[in-house]
Amino acid sequence: MSQRYDVIVIGAGPAGYIAAIRAAQLGFKVACVEKWISPAGEPALGGTCLNVGCIPSKALLASSEEFDKASHHLHEHGITVQGVSVDVARMVARKDGIVSKMTKGIEFLFRKNKITWLKGHGRVAGSADGWYRVEVTGSAPAEVEVSETRNLIIATGSKARHLPALPVDNQRICDNEGALAFTEVPARLGVIGAGVIGLELGSVWRRLGSRVTVLEAMPGFLAACDEAVAKECWKIFTRQGLDIQLGVKIGEVDTSGTTIKLPYVDAKGAAAVLEVDRLIVSVGRVPNTTDLGLETLGLVPDERGFIEVDDHCRTRLPGVFAIGDVVRGPMLAHKGEDEGVMVAELIAGQQPHIDYNCIPWVIYTSPEIAWVGRTEQQLKAEGREYKTGQFPFAANGRALGMQATEGFVKVLADARTDEVLGVHIIAATASDLIAEAAVAMEFKASAEDIARVCHPHPSMSEVMREAALATDRRALNM
Ligand code: FAD
Ligand code: NAI
Repeated sequence: MSQRYDVIVIGAGPAGYIAAIRAAQLGFKVACVEKWISPAGEPALGGTCLNVGCIPSKALLASSEEFDKASHHLHEHGITVQGVSVDVARMVARKDGIVSKMTKGIEFLFRKNKITWLKGHGRVAGSADGWYRVEVTGSAPAEVEVSETRNLIIATGSKARHLPALPVDNQRICDNEGALAFTEVPARLGVIGAGVIGLELGSVWRRLGSRVTVLEAMPGFLAACDEAVAKECWKIFTRQGLDIQLGVKIGEVDTSGTTIKLPYVDAKGAAAVLEVDRLIVSVGRVPNTTDLGLETLGLVPDERGFIEVDDHCRTRLPGVFAIGDVVRGPMLAHKGEDEGVMVAELIAGQQPHIDYNCIPWVIYTSPEIAWVGRTEQQLKAEGREYKTGQFPFAANGRALGMQATEGFVKVLADARTDEVLGVHIIAATASDLIAEAAVAMEFKASAEDIARVCHPHPSMSEVMREAALATDRRALNM
């Protein structure tokens, strides 16, 4: 006899585990299927984000920034530090400890909310009388547990896209999983793809001492960012020592020797060879929609593997939803979390809504890059009349004290109504500063609204206010 649940979620990444918790809060009987096994051989919740994504990458990022600070920046404070060195094994162990604490935290939340964790690989196995059947295969293939639900939430996430010419072994040629577990600092590191992962992880290993070369296929740098931001970041990252080559075409890798040799053709058409000790392949991610039994429901993913949904993450089948990286929109943890909450509330008969234009983006380089809303080039293409205000951190007292003067805040507002249309930030603390802009845009604030709100002094947030004032050419400290 199969167990029946009000809601079954397949996948316990940030989209799935949040959906499960919100559904349980709303009084539903909930089960969540998750198959992840940690390197220690333990089943683990949290998905890509907690195990091999957001959380571990930011732990290494923080360690590498401390190393960089101790090595190069403390003397300006009058502090002398000698003999700075890095113990990679300890750094990675610290990261693993944080991951374990976080994933155990989700186990606690599941127990607290009485969510059943079905451990193993989940597959849909058709439906009858409005009940969707889910089979979960545990560690022993013979162990198949069958459950049924009226509300099915698919939150199976994504995995790294690989290239046939670059076979990933996660020893020498790595995707995000291997790149977060290096045992030593590679002397020469190659990165394929100057996207979010390439820049974040490339920066981490550069700070720790690697000579980093990034090969990017597109002719432009950070095409999704506002052009002013992309231009400034190009200057900052190349000054920091990242060698970024745009418009390249890579060939077939040669791993027969002690080093990795990757032939490529550069933007001018000249042939070259990149010789490195390790290679990170970060060329995007693909949704996990195979071996899920979707065909038993007649649900066919699109040609790129995404499940088609409407603005509320509803598939065309009643009671079947898909959220997070398996559906359209940015592959971001907080976007998936918000979709998880939305879907649980829809099942409960509420009327939730997500404004996808107000989802913030952050790239955790140093300084960080963050934005929300439209870029200047998008507004131009849309023919919208807008005004801009920009203010640099170099003119902010707190930034000077913190040695965090790189970057600026740029506010884009409607020329007629003054409504904030986009905010773009380069700053040491851009990930925190962007939240104010997201709140402002959700409330349809004007630039004047931000400018009239009292901001604490001295703080990095004053630059947001000054940039808002600058849209009206009345910044106070410039
Ligand atoms: P996932 O987190 O991928 O979780 C899906 C889960 O489903 C997995 O645990 C998987 O095991 C499970 N699953 C899949 N199929 C089955 C099945 N058939 N049965 C049972 N279980 C199954 N985003 C940010 O917003 N901020 C960041 O700083 C950030 N940093 C990142 C850094 C890196 C290196 C990477 C790779 C990604 C990063 N991301 C970041 C992206 C973020 O991790 C993803 O957007 C997010 O994890 C997606 O959440 P999800 O729940 O949709 O999927
Ligand atoms: P990405 O889409 O950000 O960047 C991939 C880059 O690789 C692109 O610039 C693309 O042009 C390039 N590329 C593709 N094929 C190539 C080829 N053959 N040769 C050279 N370059 C090639 O993907 P990435 O960095 O793998 O990250 C995946 C996703 O994970 C991100 O889009 C983001 O959604 C998420 N993520 C989010 C983070 C954050 O929020 N801070 C951090 C890390 C990942």
